[in-house]
Amino acid sequence: MKLKPWLLLPSPLLYSLHPFFLNIYSRIQSGKTYRWKTLDWRGLHFPNPLGTAGGVDKNACYVKNYCALGAGFLELGTVTPEAQAPNPRPLLKRSLKHFSLWNNMGFPNRGLHFFEKQLDMIFKENSSFPIPLFINLGKNRTTALSSAVLDYKKGMLSLWKYASAFVINISSPNTQSLRDIFDTKYLMKFLKSINEIRLSLNKNIPLILKLSPDEEDSMRIIEQSLTAGIDGWCLTNSTRQRPVKNLFLENKGGVSGKLLAPLSIHLLKELRKWLDKNKVKDKLVISCGGVLTPQDVFGRLDIGADLVQVYSALVFNGYSFFSSVYSKIKEKNS
Ligand SMILES: Cc1cc2nc3c(=O)[nH]c(=O)nc-3n(C[C@H](O)[C@H](O)[C@H](O)COP(=O)(O)O)c2cc1C
Repeated sequence: MKLKPWLLLPSPLLYSLHPFFLNIYSRIQSGKTYRWKTLDWRGLHFPNPLGTAGGVDKNACYVKNYCALGAGFLELGTVTPEAQAPNPRPLLKRSLKHFSLWNNMGFPNRGLHFFEKQLDMIFKENSSFPIPLFINLGKNRTTALSSAVLDYKKGMLSLWKYASAFVINISSPNTQSLRDIFDTKYLMKFLKSINEIRLSLNKNIPLILKLSPDEEDSMRIIEQSLTAGIDGWCLTNSTRQRPVKNLFLENKGGVSGKLLAPLSIHLLKELRKWLDKNKVKDKLVISCGGVLTPQDVFGRLDIGADLVQVYSALVFNGYSFFSSVYSKIKEKNS
């Protein structure tokens, strides 16, 4: 069995030390692109379908590092217009028994200006990046719901030059009332405005909606978002549900990892069924939530995900996750 000494550290300490470990680890990686199950979609080329999830690189500080690990694409952010601190503590817990995380971060990030500068530095070195970069946009916690769309607009207007796609995040459980935007009375108006902003840009950037695993009427959300011009879905964010009683007792925050997997898989199957029934083609389906092993990755692709993302797997299995999946692919093919 592989030793995982980093799991001896308490979660908050590991969270603060991880950039240091990532810097070292990514430097000793070959930096080779792993090519398997390549995908071409809307002019984007994915050398493989496995990427990082929202929140892994909140400030776009480690773009080259994660690319060097062999990811097929990265999702950066969530970034909000203004820099903001995290929610009050506790922020992060984990259960080694259940391979699950609990977090109550609430989009801590350094804001759009910093994020833009980071990407500008990368694109100055090279006019293009070897893998697609998705940018996950959110709203500041002080922005009222009625003007939320303006926060997303600011994000799109500052970052469109660098974004392969925008991920519209209204599914985080850790920003008060954010998920209310899924309500019928807000959703269409909100997404139509986002689509209009996109259409006003010089580049036809795909829009991905990140879904919550806790909405009662996800198919209504999918149908409305399709009508409003959304090009794909990322499913799912962390859950407010507590699949195991007496674990992660806080009634706020979201659970990720293995305990989220059944909810994420259920929604993926429902979405696939709905898309097939309605003969919807060319939309991007990204599965996220409880993907912890190479088998999980292949399982999501078999169900019909085009791409797969991980967050918890990087905590529980380490940065070698991308290379482990590639090794399994090579084993399968030999
Ligand atoms: C500590 C932490 C921070 C996160 N931050 C974000 C975020 O900023 N934006 C976002 O869209 N999702 C965020 N997520 C949710 C993940 O992107 C992902 O949807 C969720 O963790 C499920 O995937 P997993 O089971 O592979 O962890 C965060 C998750 C964790 C554990």
